[in-house]
Amino acid sequence: MPASQLYDNHGRPITYLRLAVTDRCNLRCFYCMPEEGIKYLPKKQLLTFEEIERLINILAQMGISKVRLTGGEPFVRTDLMNLVRRIVTIEGIHDLHLTTNGILTAPHISELKSLGIASVNLSLDTLDRERFKSITRRDEFEKTWGTLQQLIEHNIPVKINAVVMDGRNIEDILPLVELTRSHNISVRFIEEMPFNGEGNHYSTLNWTYTKIVNYIREHYPNLERLADPPHSTSYNYKVPGYNGDVGVIAAFSRTFCGTCNRIRVTAQGVLKTCLYDDGVLNIRDLMREGKSDAEIKVNLLQAFNSRALNGFEAEEKRKSGSPAIESMSTIGG
Ligand code: 5AD
Ligand code: SF4
Repeated sequence: MPASQLYDNHGRPITYLRLAVTDRCNLRCFYCMPEEGIKYLPKKQLLTFEEIERLINILAQMGISKVRLTGGEPFVRTDLMNLVRRIVTIEGIHDLHLTTNGILTAPHISELKSLGIASVNLSLDTLDRERFKSITRRDEFEKTWGTLQQLIEHNIPVKINAVVMDGRNIEDILPLVELTRSHNISVRFIEEMPFNGEGNHYSTLNWTYTKIVNYIREHYPNLERLADPPHSTSYNYKVPGYNGDVGVIAAFSRTFCGTCNRIRVTAQGVLKTCLYDDGVLNIRDLMREGKSDAEIKVNLLQAFNSRALNGFEAEEKRKSGSPAIESMSTIGG
């Protein structure tokens, strides 16, 4: 039976689930975590693979067709591939995507390809080993780079996520654009958001999406604007003659909320209907209290029907203070 369409209270279709499988990570990116890391959740607070599978089944029945696994770093979760193998068999889930930092990913790429993974987003903010070390506080550039090469060789659609950080990787913007010359990949530059587990890094954001686009255009005056796919969070461009494309994501300026089709579930099973809210429903507790699928659906529908209009409203409604105290690793990237 085809799933019915799911809409929120503002008439936006909801089709896309981003699910964090862990809050743990093997890197310590400057924009995501403090150097000493964050206080990780005890294992029993995480959704089990059985609970995740059940939840995705429920959401697929309601109209979700696209799933992205995030973290933390998804491959830090033991036996992640067992979960991937299960999700690709769920009726109604047409696209499975992954966001990874690439450190532990390479051994699984052939299997991901054969399971039909729709795309992989690779976090890579710099092409310079020393800057990689200073941004991620780990000397692992070669592993991420190796993963990128293998993804390209296996013809898996790749998007590189590069967070633009004042004073840290501005010199990487053009080399990252150059990667799209010979490779059919997307490089996406992301405004830095204040989710780093320790507080705002800046009083105002200097490298906004307009500044990023203008900077790229200064060096590539023929930069061509591409049509944005539906629900795109990025403004998309192409250097004429290059194979790949370039996107800029206004993650902090929040210009894309009007077409947002996504919901998030954190590693401990809390539903977020906006990246900037502080959790609107604890699905894990409902499951562990023994609620039926039908009862869980009623609760989910209620949450989808009281969604904030945009990231600014969601931020205002938070009960737990500024989002800067949260790490993207806990939120689910
Ligand atoms: N600002 C912007 N993007 C972030 N990410 C993580 N933390 C932040 C932040 N503070 C993005 C990175 C990474 C993905 C998991 O989330 O691009 O690739
Ligand atoms: Fe890990 Fe991703 Fe956070 Fe970097 S941004 S510390 S790779 S979860």
